[in-house]
Amino acid sequence: MIGRLNHVAIAVPDLEAASEQYRTALGAKVNPPQDEPDHGVTVVFIELPNTKIELLYPLGDNSPILGFLEKNPSGGIHHVCYEVDDILAARDQLKANGLRVLGNGEPKIGAHGKPVLFLHPKDMNGTLVELEQV
Ligand code: CO
Repeated sequence: MIGRLNHVAIAVPDLEAASEQYRTALGAKVNPPQDEPDHGVTVVFIELPNTKIELLYPLGDNSPILGFLEKNPSGGIHHVCYEVDDILAARDQLKANGLRVLGNGEPKIGAHGKPVLFLHPKDMNGTLVELEQV
């Protein structure tokens, strides 16, 4: 069921500095920042040959990233995203295996305009996992 690693999302306390580090020190292809008001984040997409890195920075007062950065002031890995072909079939298979889906269990449209779900980190070895239908 599980497909490619779509992205690793890293919450950062300074979006400009982190973007510049990937651009200059790592020589990566770094895209301009994009505001995602529906998700409470500003995102910078970094394209790697085999996957993407997404730098996440809080947008607005209710950003889900604010609490994360309070606990991790120097930033940290926020979630990983795996691709699936059929998100509803994936959800049902995961639930049948005892994994909890966050929210009301229905897919939402994610930062890439595609349906996504998040799995409870306590069920996934302490890692927030996003599934994206591609
Ligand atoms: Co994501």
